[in-house]
Amino acid sequence: MKVLVTGGAGFIGSNFLYYMRKRRPDYKLVCLDALTYAGNLSTLDPLLKNNEIDFVKGSISDRDLVYKLFEEYKFDYVVNFAAESHVDRSITNPEIFLQTNIIGTQVLMDACRKYGIKRFHQVSTDEVYGDLPLDRPDLLFTEETPINTSSPYSASKASADLMVQAYNRTFKLPVTISRCSNNYGPYHFPEKLIPLIISRALNDQDLPVYGTGENVRDWLHVKDHCAAIDIILHEGKDGEVYNIGGNNEKTNLEIVKTILKQLGKPESLIKFVTDRAGHDLRYAIDPAKTIKEFNWQPTIMFDDGIKQTIQWYLDNKEWWKNIINGEYQTYYDEMYKER
Ligand code: NAD
Ligand code: TYD
Repeated sequence: MKVLVTGGAGFIGSNFLYYMRKRRPDYKLVCLDALTYAGNLSTLDPLLKNNEIDFVKGSISDRDLVYKLFEEYKFDYVVNFAAESHVDRSITNPEIFLQTNIIGTQVLMDACRKYGIKRFHQVSTDEVYGDLPLDRPDLLFTEETPINTSSPYSASKASADLMVQAYNRTFKLPVTISRCSNNYGPYHFPEKLIPLIISRALNDQDLPVYGTGENVRDWLHVKDHCAAIDIILHEGKDGEVYNIGGNNEKTNLEIVKTILKQLGKPESLIKFVTDRAGHDLRYAIDPAKTIKEFNWQPTIMFDDGIKQTIQWYLDNKEWWKNIINGEYQTYYDEMYKER
């Protein structure tokens, strides 16, 4: 089987490539990534050195390039991770989110129609459902929850999902969509909460917590997300949406304090800053359908997963230091200066 993995130099896509290399050793894996600020080729070094994957630098929005790739490889599966993924950046500059997340997805699906495919899998997010109140722990997002987006990021992901469903219904393109909760684990770009807090705490820098820190996210280890995608890609029903999550809700403040405790750093580093505009209060996924249909279960409990993740950042300082010493520093100064 030949699989096109887009966005494979990013956080989840790279973890998926490592996962699939082990899980499906006979598959041909091709990574298409534009290497934006969030893409990091060094993440894939071990796979590239041993020619375990093919890497192509380019955009999913580049129709000529995408068609050429499909013609050359004749893919069986496409898994689309490529996206602009940071909510704060979507507030500063929404346009690239529309270009990559919506148009890019459409170009990929046009190629799938033209050249034929067994399955196009769209990696989506629980953020398309909007948010839930903090005082109703009984409410969870199911696949039937109406789309109700808050940020330009989530609106662009929801738009892509609707296009995927339209291509399925209108053109009979074989598709599946998965909507996962917040991931954590190795190779997570240090603009996102968990790696940002780990890397800044290690440098004894202040830790920006938006608003009161009471917002809730439902955290899942990236490996469990990758395992679910692999199953859905192979066993999912055509046209279906599957929620993926770990039933693991934490406030942001709990996350920050957990990290500080493990690193032996003081809580005085926490700095409450101006809230994110339109900040979603609570995400909570009901993964019952995915669990029931595939017997999939999260395997990494949060207490273990967060310890392993912190250890990974301690063992791989060069990976994240290279990032935060580059243009990231300018980003941080710009994004946080008014907060
Ligand atoms: P990321 O920002 O770490 O990685 C995105 C990757 O896509 C980068 O390698 C980047 O270079 C690449 N890319 C960006 N624009 C591209 C383009 N036009 N063409 C080709 N490649 C391009 O993101 P992530 O956290 O790994 O998220 C991957 C996917 O999973 C996204 O679609 C995101 O919406 C979804 N998702 C993420 C989470 C999470 O917690 N991180 C949760 C649920 C769903
Ligand atoms: P983030 O990692 O950006 O993921 P998402 O917004 O997609 O859930 O943020 C996770 C939570 O942490 C979110 O409620 C915003 C909050 N947050 C902070 O409090 N401080 C920060 O510096 C960042 C980046 C996020």
